[in-house]
Amino acid sequence: MPIDRLGIMSTITKPTFQTNKSNTSEQKLRGGYYTPLSLATYLASWAIRTGSESILEPSCGDGNFIEALLQRFSTMSKSRKKRTAKIIAIEIESQELQKAQHRTEQYPNASNQHIEYQWLCDDFFCAYSDLYRHEEFDVVIGNPPYIRFQYLNDASRSVAFEHLRYVGYKPTK
Ligand SMILES: C[S@@+](CC[C@H](N)C(=O)[O-])C[C@H]1O[C@@H](n2cnc3c(N)ncnc32)[C@H](O)[C@@H]1O
Repeated sequence: MPIDRLGIMSTITKPTFQTNKSNTSEQKLRGGYYTPLSLATYLASWAIRTGSESILEPSCGDGNFIEALLQRFSTMSKSRKKRTAKIIAIEIESQELQKAQHRTEQYPNASNQHIEYQWLCDDFFCAYSDLYRHEEFDVVIGNPPYIRFQYLNDASRSVAFEHLRYVGYKPTK
C-alpha cells in the first residue's frame, strides 16, 4: 500500500494520465508537425498566380498544402480553363502520403481542373537526386521537417550533404 509524504498509509494511488509520449517521439523523429490549413491557404494564394505552375511539396505530410493548392485552383477555375498544373508531392511516411492523396477526392472538380499529380513515397533527399535532372519548378511550397541532426539517418545525411556540396556549400556536423 502506498505511503504519502506524512507517512500515512493510503489507498489513494497516484493518478495515471494518458500519455502520447510514444507518438510524440515518433512525431519528433520525423519532424511531423503540420501547418494549419489557414496558413497553407494563405501561402498558396500568394504563390499560385497563373494556374499552370509546376509545384513541388517536398514533405507533404497529410496534405494541408495540397488541399490549399486545390482550394486556390478552384477559385481560379474560370481563368485557368485550359491550363494544366503539375503537383509533385513527396512524403517519407506512406500512411501520411495516402491521407494527402485521399484529400484530393474532396475536390471532385480537380480532374476538370487539369492537375497532373505525381505522388512519391520517398526520402526527399533521394527523390531529389533524380528530380533535379528532369524537373523544373515554379513553386516549392511546404514546411520541411526540422529534425535534430543526430536523428537524421546516415543515408539521408550523406545524400543531403552531396546536394549541398554540389551547389557549393561545405556542410559540417
Ligand atoms: C513539418 S511536417 C510538414 C508537413 C506538411 N508539409 C505541412 O506543412 O503540413 C514534415 C513532414 O516531413 C516528413 N519527412 C520527414 N523526413 C522526410 C524526408 N527525408 N523526406 C520526405 N519527407 C520527410 C514527415 O513525415 C512530415 O510529414
